[in-house]
Amino acid sequence: MEPKLTIADILALKNKRKITMLTAYDYPLASLIDRAGIDMILVGDSVANVVLGLDSTTKVGMSEMLHHAKAVRRAVKNALVVGDMPYESYQINPDEAVKNAKRFIDEAKCDCVKLEWFDRCLEVSEKIIKAGIAVMGHIGLTPQTADKLGGFKVQGKDADAAQKLIEQALALEGLGCFSLVLECVPDKLAEIITQRLKIPTIGIGAGVNCDGQVLVSYDMLGLFERFTPKFVKKYVNLSPLISEAIVKYKEEVLAQKFPAPEHTFSIKEEELKKIK
Ligand code: KIV
Repeated sequence: MEPKLTIADILALKNKRKITMLTAYDYPLASLIDRAGIDMILVGDSVANVVLGLDSTTKVGMSEMLHHAKAVRRAVKNALVVGDMPYESYQINPDEAVKNAKRFIDEAKCDCVKLEWFDRCLEVSEKIIKAGIAVMGHIGLTPQTADKLGGFKVQGKDADAAQKLIEQALALEGLGCFSLVLECVPDKLAEIITQRLKIPTIGIGAGVNCDGQVLVSYDMLGLFERFTPKFVKKYVNLSPLISEAIVKYKEEVLAQKFPAPEHTFSIKEEELKKIK
């Protein structure tokens, strides 16, 4: 068995090979992802959309995130586990951020936390890092504050906006983030940021030149039907397969074909006769 990956291992992968990351929210999927040798597992606040049926990631809080992070952590033997800090845990009250980041480490046994960019991101990230917790940054399209960015749109499309993202990236690296998610930015801009930084960039909708890639597992497995962003590749479409299995089960129960003898327990005839 491979040893569990550390922050130092992830840093060392830059310029050696691409880094892989997927989201997970529960034990079975986290086990499969870990067994496949994915480097990092993000317990993403995308759980709000793809698992809990909510319309915004801002609607999950610490209790839901810790609940899912604990399940993922129980499954993982090798990957680095990243706890995604929910909106309320650091943006509504930044003074609570360090306490909440610690809960991901102490209670859910995550290896680090991820924070999306917002107006007090540098101050809050620095406090968490100073408290001894590794932080992954997240810039570009930041879903928790998408309304302030003109909605779910590609970011950094003109020179000014691109320059701001480069500055955010350099500032986050400067204060000690160990890696950075780049979401929905033009590939050439992601390439510039990746070249300027010593820490690895992990792209989602940011082209092939990032140091690594992340996708929402439910998107790439075809388990989330409501919306598929352009940057998603469905490696398998599980929804119709699951629907087919459920319909077959229903039909077999109605037709008394399930359970069959091999799914059934028996009792000896003589014991049966003794029952009054
Ligand atoms: O919550 C999430 O799944 C994320 C990824 C999109 C990076 O933040």
